[in-house]
Parts: sequence; structure tokens; C-alpha cells
Amino acid sequence: MTYVLALDQGTTSSRAIVFDRDGVIRGVGQREFRQYYPQPGWVEHDADEIWRSQLETARQAMRNAGVGAADIAAIGIANQRETTVLWERVTGRPLARAIVWQDRRTAGLCEALRQAGHGQRLQQRTGLVVDAYFAGTKLAWLLDKMPGARARAERGELAFGTIDSWLVWKLTGGAVHSTDYGNASRTLLFDLHTRDWSDELLGILGVPRQLLPRIAPSSAVVGHALPEWLGGAIPIAGVAGDQQAATFGQACFSPGMAKNTYGTGCFMLMNVGRRPVASRNQLLATVGWALPRRQAAGGPVARGPAAGGPGAAGLDIDFMLEGSIFVAGATVQWLRDGLGVINRSDDVEALAASVPDTGDVFLVPAFAGLGAPYWDPYARGALVGITRGTTKAHIARAALEAIAFQSAELLAAMRRDSGIALQELRVDGGAAHNDLLMQFQADLLGVPVVRPRVTETTALGAASLAGCAVGFWSGQDEVSAQWRVGRRFEPGMAGDERERRMARWAQAVQHARGWARP
Ligand code: G3P
Repeated sequence: MTYVLALDQGTTSSRAIVFDRDGVIRGVGQREFRQYYPQPGWVEHDADEIWRSQLETARQAMRNAGVGAADIAAIGIANQRETTVLWERVTGRPLARAIVWQDRRTAGLCEALRQAGHGQRLQQRTGLVVDAYFAGTKLAWLLDKMPGARARAERGELAFGTIDSWLVWKLTGGAVHSTDYGNASRTLLFDLHTRDWSDELLGILGVPRQLLPRIAPSSAVVGHALPEWLGGAIPIAGVAGDQQAATFGQACFSPGMAKNTYGTGCFMLMNVGRRPVASRNQLLATVGWALPRRQAAGGPVARGPAAGGPGAAGLDIDFMLEGSIFVAGATVQWLRDGLGVINRSDDVEALAASVPDTGDVFLVPAFAGLGAPYWDPYARGALVGITRGTTKAHIARAALEAIAFQSAELLAAMRRDSGIALQELRVDGGAAHNDLLMQFQADLLGVPVVRPRVTETTALGAASLAGCAVGFWSGQDEVSAQWRVGRRFEPGMAGDERERRMARWAQAVQHARGWARP
């Protein structure tokens, strides 16, 4: 068997990629699916459509690669995180549409939890901030609003899962209900310190334990796909949230290594080693991955004593600090669709490069509030510093720079939390192909920005987790050895100039803060 199949179930599309032993892409499938916006601030997906689109892309990728099930050693899954599905165990039917991570409907519930004095406790046990972003309050909402759901949940008739659980369930024909440690750590129900679901947290959120999936390592065979789906009983051997998978695919295996994914939003994750680091700067402490100890072979991986609940025994768990920005590449879409100043997203680079600087114009793209490190749901976009001489090119440049400024703030917070000085930032995602942005990012950070040769790091990470579990690849050392630099951007800006610009940005952010507060 000479290939691994990665399923990359993202927020707007399902993708599948067949990788060979050298980590080279041999076949790709991709399909977009419908987004539902039933009310302002609500975002939903049809879980059945997600499943169908994912299955179709897997078949497509295998067809494109010219391979059959007998050629595939394992399946790895990477998923959009936090998106919440509740379904009937007997029929496999979802009770409602999935509530997407971007959905803000539980902001009031989060406020109520904080007012009831649970905020600090939740933050301390889960490493997360109490925000509508995470799965826990979405599940609580479904249990409250779907008639009879809580009683049925207590009787064990229902199952909860993030998208990874849902896909594993569907692939195995309902035989396996599991998630991995990384996905579990995005629910507000998982205690980072005991490495297990927590009865206390379940009590606070009113979630019956019977709903929950088993927590499995991120790299282990959790079940087999039914032969009817892909033509053979292929083992499902890797599961991780997409950002965790990308961090694995970027081979960020030592404390202090970090990656930033420039997608619709930006997700920066830094490996902090074998123990969680509590953030004092509003970042998230979260699980990267849990590997069976024998698998995490030697090399640059820092060893530390493992701790954890009974389920976590025998596992090496790597923890991360994470900063999430909700709007990054979406700013470029806004330039295209909202302002109409470019025809294609790729045109932004040439337009921005047509002026030497922004002319002191700053764009704060707080279209949906601000994520880390502000967590201000009431912030709204701001464009400041406009003069009579400002053109669309200045605004386009300010839009790109905003992505870099936000990322630089995350990294500064990480530095303060971890005490680790970053050596380089590994980058991926659509906007990582924008050379102007990457150079500015390196300038602002004062450290090199490195784009790998294979930028499909999410799928590669899922494939690597699966491949390592079945012996297709020997372990993290081999994943590291396969990772190759595509292009390196060296910082060129003087330190005092960097500081001046960051201070100016901070000033611009103040204009956006709290704008929509009722
Ligand atoms: O936390 C949400 C994140 O996992 C979504 O990633 O790539 O689907 O936008 P993406």
C-alpha cells in the first residue's frame, strides 16, 4: 500500500488529497457546500451534506490519483473545529443543522455564564475564554431548543460530536463514536489538566455525559471505513482539528515552533511542550495532538513528564498556545465583493504594490468583532487616516498590512505568555502565497517567515498523523525530514520603525473597539 488519503473538511469546502510516501500530492478532490445564515450572526451547515460532499471528494481524489482502496494504507481526517452536530444514535439523523464555529447565537449564554461567576473557572480548567466560538454553548443551545432533546440525551439516545466525530461515525456506519484530544479541547467540556471530560464542566453547561464521544489519540486506528464507501475497509488512523493538523504538517514539534495559517481568518499556534501554558494575554491554551508514546520518536521533540487522567496514560500530549483572528483573508474578499476595487482576490497584491506605503492609512477589519487578544464582540471595522490623496491602492495595502499587524499582536502575546523568543514563523493558507504580505509580516515580526514547499499542510498533517499510526511513516522524525522550505522571507525593517508602526496600529484599533455596544 503506497498512499494515504487525507480528508480536509473545512468551513466552506470539503477536500480530499491522496499523498504518496514522499508526501507528494497524487490526487485532489474538492467540493463547496451550502452555508446557511438563518439570522444575523447565525451560521449553519447541513451535516448530511458535509458527509456527502466529503465522501464524493474522497472518491474524486482516489479517481484522480488512479488508486483503489487496496492502495491506501490509512485515512487521516482534519476538520473545521468547534462546529457542533447533535444526532440520533439509532438513525444517524442530525436533530438540527450543525452550528458553525462562526455562529454568535450563544453570546448571551456566554455573558450569563460569566455573570454567574463561571468565567474564571471555565477558563482555568479548559484553557479557553468563554466565547460563543466554542462547541459547549452551541451544544447547550441545541439541548435547550430542540424539543425533548435533553431528556433523550439523558436516556443515551443522542450523540454529540464535532465534525471529526461525525465523519468517523458516518465512515464506520455508526460503529465508532470518538474524537481526538485536540478537538475535545475546543468544547469547554474538556479539562486540560486531567486530560478528560469534566463532570464539573458538564454540570455548568448542563450537558449529559451520555452524549459524549470517547477521546482517542490523534494518531491511532479508531475504526475502519465501511467497504461500501471507498471500496475497502481502510483504517481511519489520524484525526485532528484543521489548525492542529496544519501545525503537525508544518512539523512544529519542539516548544517555541509556531505556524500561522492565513485563511478566511488567521490561526496562529505555538507548540509550548508537554504542559499547558495558561495565557495571561487572552490567548487560548489548547491540545495540539496526543500520540502513543512509542510513536513520538526521538529527534527534536522535548521530553517532559506526562500527566493526565486514566485515558491519557501512555500518551505524549503536546500543548499549544493559540491566537485566532476571525477576519484576515476575508478582508481581501471584502475589497473584491464589498468595495469592488479588485476583480479577483489575487489582484490585491499588484494593487497594494502600486504604492510604496499606505500613506498612514490603517484599516482595522473588525467586521465580526475582534478575536484574540481582544475578544471584543462589539468592535467594528475602522478605516482611519484617510486624506484627499488616499486611493484604493492605499486601502488595499492597508487591508493586507492589517492581516500582518493582527498576526504580529498574536505573536507578541505568545512571546509574553511563553517567554519563548520565536526563531521563525512557518506559514500556510491562501494568503501565504502573497509575497508582499509575507515580506511585511517578516518585517513586522523581526523574525523570518518561512513558506514550505507543500502548502497543503492541513491535509499533509492529517495524512502524517494517519501514516505514522500504521507504520507508513516511521514517526515525527520522518515528518520533519520531509518538510522543506519553499521560500524564506527575511526581516528588513529597523526595530524602532517596527515599534512605531505597531504603536500606530494599536491606536487605530482603539477606534474600532466597542463601536456596536448596545
Ligand atoms: O476554529 C475554526 C477553524 O478550525 C476553521 O478553519 O480552515 O475551516 O476556516 P477553516
